[in-house]
Amino acid sequence: MSEPSLTSSASFQALETHAIEAEDWQMRSLFAADPQRFERMSLEAAGLFLDYSKNRLDGRTLELLAALARERGVEQRRDAMFAGEKINNTEHRAVLHTALRAPREAKLVVDGQDVIADVHAVLDRIKAFTNAVRSGEWLGHTGKPITDVVNIGIGGSDLGPKMACLALRPFAHPRLAMHFVSNVDGHDIEAALERLDPETTLFIVASKTFTTAETMMNAQTARRWFVERAPESALPRHFVAVSTNTEAVKDFGIDPANMFPFWDWVGGRYSVWSAIGLPVALCVGFGYFSDFLAGAHAMDEHFRSAPIEQNMPVLLGLIGFWNRQFLGCPSVTIAPYHQDLARFPAYLQQLEMESNGKRVTRDGAPVDTPTCPAIWGEPGTNGQHAYFQMLHQGTDVTPIDFIAALSPSHELRHHHTALLANCFAQSEAFMKGKTPDEVRRDLQGLPLAEIERLVPHKTFPGNRPSNTILMEYLNPASLGALIALYEHKTFVQGVLWDVNSFDQWGVELGKVLAKKIEAELAGEPQPALHDSSTNGLIARARAAI
Ligand code: F6P
Repeated sequence: MSEPSLTSSASFQALETHAIEAEDWQMRSLFAADPQRFERMSLEAAGLFLDYSKNRLDGRTLELLAALARERGVEQRRDAMFAGEKINNTEHRAVLHTALRAPREAKLVVDGQDVIADVHAVLDRIKAFTNAVRSGEWLGHTGKPITDVVNIGIGGSDLGPKMACLALRPFAHPRLAMHFVSNVDGHDIEAALERLDPETTLFIVASKTFTTAETMMNAQTARRWFVERAPESALPRHFVAVSTNTEAVKDFGIDPANMFPFWDWVGGRYSVWSAIGLPVALCVGFGYFSDFLAGAHAMDEHFRSAPIEQNMPVLLGLIGFWNRQFLGCPSVTIAPYHQDLARFPAYLQQLEMESNGKRVTRDGAPVDTPTCPAIWGEPGTNGQHAYFQMLHQGTDVTPIDFIAALSPSHELRHHHTALLANCFAQSEAFMKGKTPDEVRRDLQGLPLAEIERLVPHKTFPGNRPSNTILMEYLNPASLGALIALYEHKTFVQGVLWDVNSFDQWGVELGKVLAKKIEAELAGEPQPALHDSSTNGLIARARAAI
C-alpha cells in the first residue's frame, strides 16, 4: 500500500494551521517571553552541543513536528535501516553505513552474511596496510618510503576523504602529503602529477563501481605517467584500489591483493567510513581512524535510542523541514567557524542534495511539497565578507548552521577568541536584527532628513533562523559524530518527504549524453542531431580542438 501523501497527514495539516499563527512571530519576543528558551532548546549528544533556540518556532511547533515525525514513521524507518532491510527500493539494497562503524562485538546478519565480521576483516587489512605505509615498512619500488598519496575518485569517493583529511590536519602524518584528483578536467591531474615523484607516490584508485568515467580516465592517465617513469612490474607497490568491483579492478591491472573491498549496501556519499576512508586512515593513522568511526557510532546510538523530542538528528531534520516548508527557505548555509572544515559544506552538498534532491516519493508519485533546499557555504569569517550581506538584508530568508570548536588546536588564543566572537555575534545579529528606531538612535546628530534617508538601508529585519553546533575540539571523534549527525538529519528529512534518499538517478542523463558528445568531439563523422544550441557549441569546440 502506498504511503499517504505528506500534505494529507493530520499532523502536517495541524502544522499548516499553526504556521499561519507563527507568521508574525518575532524571535526577539520569543526570547523575551521565555528566559529558559536556550536551556529548553539545546541539547548534547555524542560530544556535540546543539543550540536550536534561534529558530522561529516555539514549544508547540516542536510538539507538532514531533507528531509529524511519528506519523511519517521516522522511528520505524530508522529501525529498518539499522536492521539491514532493503530500504533503497529502486536498487533493492540495504543501507548499512551505520554497520561500518559498529564495534567488532556488534551483531548484524543480512541475507545470511555476517556484516560486522566482513566490515572488521576489511578494517584489519586497512590497519595492516596503513601501519606499513606510515611506518616506512611499505616502500616504493626503489626502496624509498612513500611521501605522497594520491586519491583518484569523485563524488563520494573523493569528497568525504578529502574533507576529513583536511579537517584532521593536526593529526596528519608529517611525511605523507595527501592529494585528491577528481575532475575529468586534465588540469586537475596535471597539477597533481607535476609535483610528484614516481618512486615515492602511492595512488589509490577509489570507485565503488570502478566504471565512473572521470575516475577511470584519471586512473589511466596516472598509470601511463607511472609506467613512463618506472618499470611496469613496480605497479603493485604504487597502485591500490578501493571498490566493490573486483573484476574491473583486475582488468585495470591492480592485483586484488591490493584491493580494499566494500559492499553495495554502502552508498557513495555514505562511504567515508568504509575502505573509501583509506586516505583518512593513511593520513591520521588507524588509531585515529577508529576514533572517527567511534564518534559516528556514538551518534548512531543516540539516533537510534533517544526519544524524538531529544534526538539531535531528528530535531535538526524537523527544524530544517519547518524552515523549508513553512518559512519557504530555498537554501541553507553551512558556516563552519573552523578553517579546517573548509570542505564540509561541499561534502554536505552531496550528502543532502544527492540524497533528497528528489521529486517523486518511493512509490513514484509526485512529492506534494518542496524537497531538499540548496546547501552551500564557506568557512566563517570569510563568508561574512562575501555573501553575509545577502543573508542579513536580502529578500530570501536563508537559515544558517554555525559550527564551531570551543578550543582550537593551535596556540593563538586571541585568534580563537575573535573567531568565536564573530560566530556568536552573527547568530545574534541574524536573530535580533536592528529596528528602524535603533538605527535612528545610532544616527543621532545627523540632520533629520539624512537620518530618514539612511534608516531603510541600515535596518536589519532579523528574525532569521540559525542553529549553532559546538564541539570541544575538532578531532576524529567529534568529526565522526558531526558527519553522522548530518547523515541522520538527511535520513529524517527523506522519511518526511517519503523519497528514496539512497539512489541518484538524476546524475545518469548527463553521463549518457556526455559519452555521445565526447565521441562527436573526438571526430565521429556524423554528429547526432542535438538542439541548435548544443550543435552550435559542439561545432565551435570541434573547430578549436
Ligand atoms: O555522481 C554519481 C555517483 O554515483 C555518486 O553517487 C558517487 O559518489 C560518485 O558517482 C562516484 O561513484 P563511484 O565511487 O562508483 O566512482
